[in-house]
Amino acid sequence: TLLRGRTLTFLRWPDTTEDHAAYRYEEDGGLLLEGGRIAAAGAYAEVAAKAGNGAQCIDHRPHLLLPGFIDAHVHFPQMQVIASYGTELLDWLNKYTFPEETKFSNAQHGRRIARLFLDEMVRQGTTTVSAYCSVHKQSAEAFFAESHERNMLNIAGKVMMDRNAPEQLRDTPESSFDDSKALIEEWHGKGRQLYAVTPRFAITSSPEQLEMAGALMRAFPDLHMQTHLSENHAEIAFTGELYPWARDYTDVYEHYGLLGPRALFGHCIHLSDREADALSQSGSVAVFCPTSNLFLGSGLFDYQRYRRRSKPLRIATATDVGGGTNYSMLRTMDEGYKVIALNGEKLNPFASFWQLTRGNAEALSIADRVGTLDVGTDADIVVLNPSATPAMRLRMETAGTLAEQLFLLQTLGDDRAVVETYVAGKPAKSALPAVVT
Ligand code: GUN
Ligand code: FE
Repeated sequence: TLLRGRTLTFLRWPDTTEDHAAYRYEEDGGLLLEGGRIAAAGAYAEVAAKAGNGAQCIDHRPHLLLPGFIDAHVHFPQMQVIASYGTELLDWLNKYTFPEETKFSNAQHGRRIARLFLDEMVRQGTTTVSAYCSVHKQSAEAFFAESHERNMLNIAGKVMMDRNAPEQLRDTPESSFDDSKALIEEWHGKGRQLYAVTPRFAITSSPEQLEMAGALMRAFPDLHMQTHLSENHAEIAFTGELYPWARDYTDVYEHYGLLGPRALFGHCIHLSDREADALSQSGSVAVFCPTSNLFLGSGLFDYQRYRRRSKPLRIATATDVGGGTNYSMLRTMDEGYKVIALNGEKLNPFASFWQLTRGNAEALSIADRVGTLDVGTDADIVVLNPSATPAMRLRMETAGTLAEQLFLLQTLGDDRAVVETYVAGKPAKSALPAVVT
């Protein structure tokens, strides 16, 4: 397949809207897709010449073609938790989230929600997520089976949690190790599936269980590890009571060997300098979840402060649905821009779209496979229409530059701006069923 449109891909972090060396943009661009990969990219005329006469051309002009969006932290079992009123983190977990997650002991329920969740990702132009499943092994089975069937590159893990949660949601250090290991052996590296060791957070894991999580990471060093860190003041205080020997919250994970370049820490809002140092020194990733942090009243992630450190923190962005309030990475970056504004800074639109694509791919250490339009990488692509709604079309009349068009896409855009999503070279959004069942 040959795609034609305005192609945009990033080479590195764009410092300003004038940093033209940070990205490659083709007004009349072409992408040749072969065997699920990008076989050629560049000016349409050149790519078309390489493609020869047999290739079918899908003309997406005047829309933009970008690498598919990446959501670095999301809870697939929380689709019926999103938009739950009136609580902060710990009450939200106890009142809404934990009761909902108990339903995922039922494999059929897990499979249905996994299907609807991945449908929604495709609808939003998100082609890769790092997902939390529930504590139940069968919830991860359901997620991976559904993801594998669609040939999506997704990272996921069964949540490990053995205390401070309802009985039906508690595993044990041994069962969490055994179930995780069985899932790793079945799914990690199968097709495009990747496993993440997923201790929920320090509050719901005993020291013995965090020890087991560390043992899994030592046994399988190429896995990701994902957890929550420093989201809310009550959470931090409770963690201090549960781990009285720890210097701070980050030290709990540090102690069990859970920091490192494949470690993804959701939230990281109230970090001390020592904690930020520990994360940056180890190459760990802080995951910015703006809609969730605003919705649960958790606090303001200081993106620019983390970036400006002498050794910058690696940062990813994410929806954190169901604490987050929108599945769209466009809506997420719009809220992210506002959080950064409340910290007295601005994020330029090229940096936003770098973050949603290559930036998140680098943070997840998968940029050799996804997150760019580079030849040889997987053909996960989103097609965006900056004139998707009447209000957007009107604003486009005065948006002359690419930077302005991207910024209006981020500020006004949502799934309506996603014309098509390609997963491993195949059109996936237009193939979605029209009704939810
Ligand atoms: N901390 C522990 N579990 C969760 C969760 O499910 N969502 C959020 N936002 N924070 C958490
Ligand atoms: Fe979360």
